[in-house]
Amino acid sequence: MSRPAGQALTFVIFGATGDLAVQKLWPALFRLSAGGHLPPDCRFLGVSRTPHGDEGFRLQVRRLLAQERARAGEDFDRWCDQCVFYHALSANGGDGYNHLAQRIAELEGEGSSSSNRLFYLAVPPRSFPAIIEGLGRAGLHQSGGWTRLVVEKPFGEDLDSARALNALTHRYFDESQVFRIDHYLGKETVQNLLVFRFGNAIFESLWNRSHIESVQITVAETVGVGSRAGYYDGVGALRDMVQNHLSQILSLVAMEPPVHFEAEDVRNEKVKVVHSLAPIRPEDVVLGQYGRGRVGGEEVPAYREEGGVPRDSRTATFAALKVYVANWRWHGVPFYLRTGKRMAQRQSQIVVLFRQPPVTLFESANRNPLRSNALVITLQPDEGFDLHFHVKVPGTPLRLEDEQLAFRYAEAFPGRMPDAYETLLLEVLRGDQSLFVRADWIETSWKLYTPLLRSSLPVHEYAAGGWGPPEAERLLPAGDSWWNAGPVRHELGAGTPDLR
Ligand code: BG6
Repeated sequence: MSRPAGQALTFVIFGATGDLAVQKLWPALFRLSAGGHLPPDCRFLGVSRTPHGDEGFRLQVRRLLAQERARAGEDFDRWCDQCVFYHALSANGGDGYNHLAQRIAELEGEGSSSSNRLFYLAVPPRSFPAIIEGLGRAGLHQSGGWTRLVVEKPFGEDLDSARALNALTHRYFDESQVFRIDHYLGKETVQNLLVFRFGNAIFESLWNRSHIESVQITVAETVGVGSRAGYYDGVGALRDMVQNHLSQILSLVAMEPPVHFEAEDVRNEKVKVVHSLAPIRPEDVVLGQYGRGRVGGEEVPAYREEGGVPRDSRTATFAALKVYVANWRWHGVPFYLRTGKRMAQRQSQIVVLFRQPPVTLFESANRNPLRSNALVITLQPDEGFDLHFHVKVPGTPLRLEDEQLAFRYAEAFPGRMPDAYETLLLEVLRGDQSLFVRADWIETSWKLYTPLLRSSLPVHEYAAGGWGPPEAERLLPAGDSWWNAGPVRHELGAGTPDLR
C-alpha cells in the first residue's frame, strides 16, 4: 500500500461515536494513518449530535478505542491530539450545515480552496436523506479538490426508498462521487473471486449449466443481534444480509467476464446478474428466528428475549432462498442463498456442486451414493478453498472415498489479512469505485426482493446453535443437503410452526 498523493484531506464522519465508527472506522483510520497510507495533511472531523468540544471528543475516542490504544500506546494519543476534531450538529440541520461548512474551512485554513473532502455516513439509514440534503444545501458537495460521499448499507429499505435516496443523492452528487459500501466487497476472499474465476481457465471452462448442478452461498454467524436491536428489528435478515452481501457474492460468482478489469466494466457485468434473476417465488424462501439454545457451549437467549427486541417480534434472523439466474450460462441451475444469526458456526462459503458423471460406474463399490464433486470456497474464517473429488481406497474390494485438494490463505500468505474497511477506505481515497455498489445495482436488487418483503411469509423458530429451521432443507431436492461445515446436520423432522 502506498501513500496517496500529498493533497490535504478532511475526513468527516457522521455517526462518529456509533457502533460502526467505533468498531471499524476509527481503528481502520488509525492503522492507515500509522502505516503512512493517508495523505500527510489529513484531519478527521467527527460529527454527531452530542455536544462536545474537540478535547471532550478525543477523550471519548480514547475510551471507546481502549484496545487499539493499548496496542499502539502513545502513538494513538498523539494521533488523536493532532488529527481528530469534533463538531456537534443537530440531525435536522437548520443553520447547522452552514456552521459545519465554516468549521471545515477553518480546519483547512489556507489550504481550504484545494483540500479534498470525504463525507462518511456511518449513521442509521433513516438519517441519510437529511444529511445528504444538508450537505448539498450548504454547498458541501463541492470543494476545490475532490469531494466524495461514502454511504453505509442498507441503502434504502425497498425499491421506492432506494430510488428516492438515489434521486436525492444525485441532486447534489455525481455518481462518480458516491461510494456505497458493502463491506463484503472489501474482503480479500471476495475480491479473489474474480481472480479465481478469470485468472484460471480451468475453472472458468466448467463454470456453466453444463457442468454445474447447483451453487450454495452461506453466510452463517454465531453472534446474535447484540446491542443492535434498535436497527436490526426493523430490518431483518433479508434487508441486512441478503439484498446486499449475499447478492453481491452471487453477482461475482455468476457474472460474465468483464471486458477490462475496470470499475465500470466489472459493475456492468454485476448488474446484469441481478437483472437476470428470475422473480423469487414465496415457496422458495424460508425465514426463521432464533430461539434459545447453546452456541459455543454457552446458553443464549432467544431473539425475542434480547434487549430492545419486542417480545412479539416476527423479524427474521435467518433466511434461505432458492434463486435462478435466468440467462444462457445458468439456465436451470439453482442458487441457494442462506444466512442466519446464532448458527452452529461462523462460516461464509460458496459451494459449487458439479454434475455427476453421466453414467454411474461405481455405485456398487460404495454403500452411500457418491456426493457430487464440489468446489468449496471459504470466505471466512479459515479462508481458502477445497476441491472435493473421489479416490479409490487402496486394496480390495473396490471402495471410493471423498478427498480434497486444499488451499489455505493462512498457509500461503502468513500474516494478517487486510481488514475490509482499510481496503475500502483506501479505494475511496484512490477514487476507484470497483469495490462499491452502483446506483443501478442497488435498485435492481431491491426490485427483486421488495415483493418478498411485502408478502407475509411464515417465520419459523430455530434453536440457536443449529443450522436454521429444518424447512430450509426442503428447498433442496430430496437427498441433497446444505453443505454444513462440521458434523452438525439436520434430521428432517416434521417442521416447526410459524411464529405467530
Ligand atoms: C453487517 C450486518 O453488514 O454484516 C451485520 O449488518 C452482520 O448484521 C455483519 O453481523 C457480518 O459481517 P462480517 O464481516 O462479520 O461477516
